[in-house]
Amino acid sequence: MPSSRLQGFYQLSPAERARRVAEFANLSEEEAALLASESPLTLQQADRMIENVVGVYGLPLAIATNFVINERDYLIPMVVEEPSVVAGLSYAARLVRAGGGFHALADAPEMIGQIQVLDVPNPAAARLRLLAAEKELLERANACDPVLTALGGGARALQVRLAESPVGTMLIVHLIMDVRDAMGANAVNTAVEALAPHVERLTGGRALLRIVSNLADRRLARAWGVVPKEELALEGLSPEEGVQRILEAHAFAEADPYRAATHNKGIMNGVDAVALATGNDWRAIEAGAHAYAARSGRYKPLTAWERDAQGNLVGSIELPMAAGIFGGATRAHPQARLAIKILGVRTAQQFAEVMAAVGLAQNLAALRALAMEGIQRGHMKLHARQVAMAAGAIGEEVEAVVERMLAEGAVRSDRAAEILAALRREGHR
Ligand code: MEV
Repeated sequence: MPSSRLQGFYQLSPAERARRVAEFANLSEEEAALLASESPLTLQQADRMIENVVGVYGLPLAIATNFVINERDYLIPMVVEEPSVVAGLSYAARLVRAGGGFHALADAPEMIGQIQVLDVPNPAAARLRLLAAEKELLERANACDPVLTALGGGARALQVRLAESPVGTMLIVHLIMDVRDAMGANAVNTAVEALAPHVERLTGGRALLRIVSNLADRRLARAWGVVPKEELALEGLSPEEGVQRILEAHAFAEADPYRAATHNKGIMNGVDAVALATGNDWRAIEAGAHAYAARSGRYKPLTAWERDAQGNLVGSIELPMAAGIFGGATRAHPQARLAIKILGVRTAQQFAEVMAAVGLAQNLAALRALAMEGIQRGHMKLHARQVAMAAGAIGEEVEAVVERMLAEGAVRSDRAAEILAALRREGHR
């Protein structure tokens, strides 16, 4: 297994980076060309994906390095417009790598489909009639998708609740379905639509909404990892102080929902970017994450940070992960397919584990930056790099120009050009 620790990766050109990634993931010539392509999605393909298409919209596709999850190296494809997200993620993954990498664990890929039943004559008895018919209903659900059942997935359970509402007592039916390697909304929606007439027959009520739930709390993904305290001796802090800063930053999110929202937004910076790169429905994942964060009735951070007996930093995360590697845009979008190949994940469960590790690492990156240097300095460095490259700096010149501009507090294209010219005169080429 090749290493994901690609030193100096950020200093390469996009084409060179793509070559390294192709090598890592064993891509074919064709796939490597697609990876580096400026227009991987054709207008014709786009026109088949959604309605009223007029063009194709581009975003950067980047790779985060350094990930070890369950003792396997990963390169992480990300699509995101925000600077510092990819660099921050790679940096945080390196910190956790020093502690042995991430450990991760995901539930079976069980999704929930809901049927809303109104105007039920005797709701309490109707609920029991439905439960008594569970076997029949599960069989009917499975009949909708013989391929899924052949793959080992299918309907697993039926749950029924009564709920008071402004339009009277309603029955809420949950169909639990193992969707294997798909995100699963399609399979679940088909099944609940097929079940609805039978639910009406058994309850005497009227089925209205029949739709997947995005609070996919039977499909949780979890990751945890250790950062050796020495790795946090940054910015003149002792290792203990470095760990303490992260604990204090996390405590803010525990204490206050206004902070928790931003804390979780940072987690989703990474998760969404991988969701987008792999053609997954990032809105579904977002909805699940935030609903789960509020499950106690109070909005909470999705991560926890603690200190272990040796004083090292230990992080963990748990969130719903309705993401797949099969079906929908994960197959229809050429680069999404490629992103899944680069990840090398074989199942949606393994993919969910990667997503959890990414969320945890992105949170660590944000907390480290916020609690140690403030977020703008990192942004400035990235900005300075862009300015240096735009002025024509290549290879080692980039860092030299960046360092000098930052030291002078003058991150401008005219200054970059002057510094570059001076460097070249001094014979730095
Ligand atoms: C910015 O996109 C994300 C952060 O605000 C997250 C956080 O504050 O934890 C930096």
